[in-house]
Amino acid sequence: MSLLEFKHVEDVMRSECSGQRVCIRGWIYRRSVVGKKAFVRVRDSTGVIQVVVDGGKLGEQLVRELKDIGLEASVVTCGVVKESERAPGGFEIEADYFAVIGYSRDFPIKGGEGLDYLMDNRHLWIRSPRYANIFKIKHTVLAAGREYFIKNGYWEVTPPILTASACEGGATLFPVEYFESKAYLSQSAQLYLEALVYVLEKVFSLTPSFRAEKSRTRRHLAEYWHLEPEAAWHSMEDMMKVAEGLIVYIVERVLEERRRELEDLGRDINALKKALNTPYPRVKYDEAIEMLQKKGVNIEWGDDLGADEERVLTMEFETPFFLTHFPRQVKSFYMKIDRSRPEVVLGFDLLAPEGYGEIIGGGEREDNYEALYQRILEQGLNPEDYKWYLDLRRYGSVPHSGFGLGVERAVMWIAGLDHIREAMPFPRYRGRIYP
Ligand code: 4AD
Ligand code: MG
Repeated sequence: MSLLEFKHVEDVMRSECSGQRVCIRGWIYRRSVVGKKAFVRVRDSTGVIQVVVDGGKLGEQLVRELKDIGLEASVVTCGVVKESERAPGGFEIEADYFAVIGYSRDFPIKGGEGLDYLMDNRHLWIRSPRYANIFKIKHTVLAAGREYFIKNGYWEVTPPILTASACEGGATLFPVEYFESKAYLSQSAQLYLEALVYVLEKVFSLTPSFRAEKSRTRRHLAEYWHLEPEAAWHSMEDMMKVAEGLIVYIVERVLEERRRELEDLGRDINALKKALNTPYPRVKYDEAIEMLQKKGVNIEWGDDLGADEERVLTMEFETPFFLTHFPRQVKSFYMKIDRSRPEVVLGFDLLAPEGYGEIIGGGEREDNYEALYQRILEQGLNPEDYKWYLDLRRYGSVPHSGFGLGVERAVMWIAGLDHIREAMPFPRYRGRIYP
């Protein structure tokens, strides 16, 4: 039988297919035997369909075998498609051919296991149809993100992952042996992207970023995917428009192409649709502190906002919204000081609604050599480590801005997930490196 004659489950579950003979292949998702009939639910990358194996037609031996067959055995089966009210999804295949390709004895996941056990079996757990939905949404987020930048005149570039110094502070650096010396896994491509804007003006990269986050939270991974644009001649406000455009583009695409997956995951589509309403509110850090204080949150001007504070703020908005003009001490050394108000920097975060919080961090970069040098000292860093980065301010410096989108943070919000590890097939966090 040639490959072309096989169909995918989603293409079979349609009224046009009713009465047609089809062949599918996949894995056994569930099965039960009633009398001489086996009801086998077969899963492929596109869905799950019930296959009815009648012992009267295909032999009672096969039905006996199916009664004890392990979940996730791989199978090939053919038969006529029928619309059936009793079948989950409304369609079933009445098998006239059924063959087991790969046996599966005692599949380790049966339902009801605890999280650590499931994570130890992550390579098998991801076969759950829930993950097919999540990974497909992630695919669309990645594809749309890239496409948005390419369509808007950004060049995709490939910054290094092995680096010599910190972009986002030493506390979350991962050291690695690098020949005779020490290097670190990149926390952000930003510093290298800044060098590349002098070549290509508008650039972006999609790379893994690494953070040695000491504590486990719902929204932190040790390894995540980072989509980062950087553009010459762009102010903070220009860059916020780019960020807004990116989110609208991604959400539109997911709503268009991944509607079924969102629905299967139980995502509130109407809440997500609100993200299409722009411009997003722009809230200064000062106003955010006032809003929090009015709500009884114990916070003072100068404090950093954590997940809890962000969650309180997200309850005030139905769309994503920007926070801007943070105190200089809570943000990284590269942020440009607001010249009209030197206690704050021209940085912004984009927070997703519904409790999710920060999905983007960015801003305008300090482009003055002296000011940047002072900021490096002020943050207790060694200017020697940033010599090349300082050079960018010595040879034809230009105003420029950029940001970083945490891809899994975006997927978490868009798909309505409770935990960021769900957005990664093999998530890395403290205490987890296997499988
Ligand atoms: O806010 P962050 O630390 O900003 C930067 O790294 C900038 N250098 C980016 C830039 O301007 N090019 O990180 C950016 C985003 C965050 O908003 C968040 O979405 C995500 O990266 N992020 C994480 N995602 C998962 N796990 C973690 N531990 C993350 N840390 C940051
Ligand atoms: Mg941030």
